[in-house]
Amino acid sequence: MKFLKKKFILKNNLISFDINDDVTKKVTDFYKDSPFPNYKRDDNKITILEKGNKNILAAQFKKFIGYNKNVLEVGCGTGQISIYFSIGTNNNVIGLDPTKESLNLASNFSIKNKIDNVKFVNADIFDDVLKEDFFDFIWCSGVLHHTKDPQAAFNIICNSLKKEGYILIGLYNKIGRIRTIIRKYLYRILGENFLKLIDPTLRNLKNDPEEQKAWIRDQYIHPVESLHTTDEVLKWFNENNIDFISSIPECDFDDGGYDNLFEKKSVGTLYSRIVNQISMIFNSLGSDGGLFVLIGKKK
Ligand SMILES: C[S@@+](CC[C@H](N)C(=O)[O-])C[C@H]1O[C@@H](n2cnc3c(N)ncnc32)[C@H](O)[C@@H]1O
Repeated sequence: MKFLKKKFILKNNLISFDINDDVTKKVTDFYKDSPFPNYKRDDNKITILEKGNKNILAAQFKKFIGYNKNVLEVGCGTGQISIYFSIGTNNNVIGLDPTKESLNLASNFSIKNKIDNVKFVNADIFDDVLKEDFFDFIWCSGVLHHTKDPQAAFNIICNSLKKEGYILIGLYNKIGRIRTIIRKYLYRILGENFLKLIDPTLRNLKNDPEEQKAWIRDQYIHPVESLHTTDEVLKWFNENNIDFISSIPECDFDDGGYDNLFEKKSVGTLYSRIVNQISMIFNSLGSDGGLFVLIGKKK
């Protein structure tokens, strides 16, 4: 495999490495009981394509990738985004995750649905198994805040990004996640039924107990979680030769919306960035868990 720098064992479309780090093992133990985000019983190639097309961020990313590219998803969980990026393209897509149980679901789903341009790598970011300067696009959302050292993990994944390649990072925001933090304390005191009244995502999942369970575990009882700011990630970008392209929420005031996330936007001022992160508390970004996203391009 051209994209790996370590020896590996390949079984079907799954490559496995040993997971040894204690913090990573704590996280994989957590996900193995309830792989995230998991599939619905009737999911198939068409439903994954439809769900991906409805996700503005993933749909724009896929369109911008185009064809014939090397694409990496770090922390792919059960692999929906990797599979979505593969469907109908000739891209070479790799999904990496240390949770074997999640990757087994991803691998079985892609084989059953005859999606043959995706492979899965069961590995820990910190074991640094990927070749340098290989990928044209890297997607890593909802992952680094569940690791022992998010900045070190970011540095490692940047090494495998090619010059002029794009990286998307999604992390929990220190300000924007306040509503979830408050709900977490109320859940501990008042229980799950109360949580169902105050968490809008849970209310939307009311017909699916498995998805509700996965969401509650992921948002409210995760054993490893950290919070970050836009300025922190801008500093990581700077230290890794990554040029800021755009973000959600925007860095500047009223900077044209999210219709073209790959068009370079203004980085704003410290004031505008803080105000925009505070505004997350009052919009859907804050009610859905406070995830913020930055896109960068390697110089
Ligand atoms: C909340 S899930 C997100 C899954 C997927 N990215 C999504 O947005 O649906 C976090 C994922 O990060 C993975 N993860 C945690 N620690 C990791 C590490 N050290 N290296 C790679 N992935 C890791 C977990 O196994 C899990 O699948």
